[in-house]
Amino acid sequence: MKKVISLLVAMFLVASLPAAFAEIPVEILDNPYLILVNKENKLPDEWTSMVNFSVGKNSLGELHIVEAETLEQFEALRAYLLETEGIQIELDSIYRSLDKQQEIWDAWSADPELGPEYCEQYLAPVGCSEHHTGLAIDVFLIKDGEAIRDNDAMIAETEIFAKIHQHLAEFGFILHYLPGKEDITGYSYEPWHLRYIGNPALAKSITTAGITFEEYYDLLQSTFN
Ligand code: DAL
Ligand code: ZN
Repeated sequence: MKKVISLLVAMFLVASLPAAFAEIPVEILDNPYLILVNKENKLPDEWTSMVNFSVGKNSLGELHIVEAETLEQFEALRAYLLETEGIQIELDSIYRSLDKQQEIWDAWSADPELGPEYCEQYLAPVGCSEHHTGLAIDVFLIKDGEAIRDNDAMIAETEIFAKIHQHLAEFGFILHYLPGKEDITGYSYEPWHLRYIGNPALAKSITTAGITFEEYYDLLQSTFN
């Protein structure tokens, strides 16, 4: 029965992905942790029935919906960073429904300090956000007892984020929106946006190669075409 469900999910994924993915083996597309969601690849409609969601709580008591394995690994990463580096990361923005993404888009567009241009740089169009998957975690920092949640303030914390980024792969995470790769990802550098891909060895390869998840998919295509 599990195999039949798995095959149906694989067929669904193949059917729902653009033709560019057609040559990528089903066993890769069948793995929900490897889903690519971006401006060209919208979230499959049935996504929420394909993964398990759980609820995480940050140290301010805020509750967040997160894909279950992603949450487990995030908690392990968080504990490791706290213990070994004295760095405190917290859940900030994780699963977002389509309505939530629209709500953020509307609020940011109308905000005179942000506006539509800022949205284009830092916010995915509705249906195209990795946050719809529950596999992407935006973190904020707690430093010297103070929460650092503002995007520009976090970008300025280069040393702290460099240390955080060094340990992501061990827990199956990659940094998706890399500096200098804006043309490929479609977004500005986001040091806070961690993407769980479910496989520490693969995360390590992608990180060491300095490539984005889009480029990993390009490599897959050139390998299997
Ligand atoms: N900040 C990322 C691009 C998103 O909105 O999904
Ligand atoms: Zn994000």
